[in-house]
Amino acid sequence: MSDLASIGMERGMLYETILTTRNPDGKPNAAPIGVICKDMDEVVVYLHEGSRTVKNIKKEGEFVVNILKDPLIFVESTLGNPPADNFAEYKDNFYIKTTEAFFKAKVNHLRDVERKDQFGVSRTTIVRAGVEEIVKKKDQVEPLNRAIYGIIEALVYLTRMDLVSGDTERLYHHRIREISRIVNKVGGPEHKKAMKRVLEAFSEYSLE
Ligand SMILES: Cc1cc2nc3c(=O)[nH]c(=O)nc-3n(C[C@H](O)[C@H](O)[C@H](O)COP(=O)(O)O)c2cc1C
Repeated sequence: MSDLASIGMERGMLYETILTTRNPDGKPNAAPIGVICKDMDEVVVYLHEGSRTVKNIKKEGEFVVNILKDPLIFVESTLGNPPADNFAEYKDNFYIKTTEAFFKAKVNHLRDVERKDQFGVSRTTIVRAGVEEIVKKKDQVEPLNRAIYGIIEALVYLTRMDLVSGDTERLYHHRIREISRIVNKVGGPEHKKAMKRVLEAFSEYSLE
């Protein structure tokens, strides 16, 4: 198999990945980016204005998607870049050495839009890219999706609801709404069904 199914991706789901790109000085850049599996050979990314990643992709027309769960790589890539010895080269592209798998994506279509979300209006570049070459570094690859973690967190809050009141109870209600938003954004049908069940159980604890 040489499509995204071979690295555990499912159509319609959003995975947290590390995108590696080439800076204008030729050095590698890494950033955590959510990658939507649009089809088995196509991904979509939403890139907020201002990042190096969006500038590099506009210039180079390609990027590498790394599938990994290395916590330090996520942190270093958010705060800046991991040290240079964490990167390796593959046919003119960079990837992260500890990655479970990576693939090269070539931009098919790119569009700048103004989007309004809970944080206000922002400029975003929507990139549709074709999956070119998938390289597996491990037999069993599991891409990172936040939905299951959200559901587990929601269940923990649910089981504490009899014990809390006042501000803590209000906080839990707020968190559940936020978790539900995330699960419905990044999850698949089973996650959404599970979250709906949790919300139903939660509704028994309505706020006065
Ligand atoms: C888990 C996670 C997912 C993220 N997803 C996105 C995303 O989908 N699009 C985006 O523009 N920024 C996203 N970000 C924020 C960028 O990673 C962050 O702005 C980063 O510093 C950009 O780095 P760069 O300037 O090297 O490109 C995400 C951050 C985290 C921690």
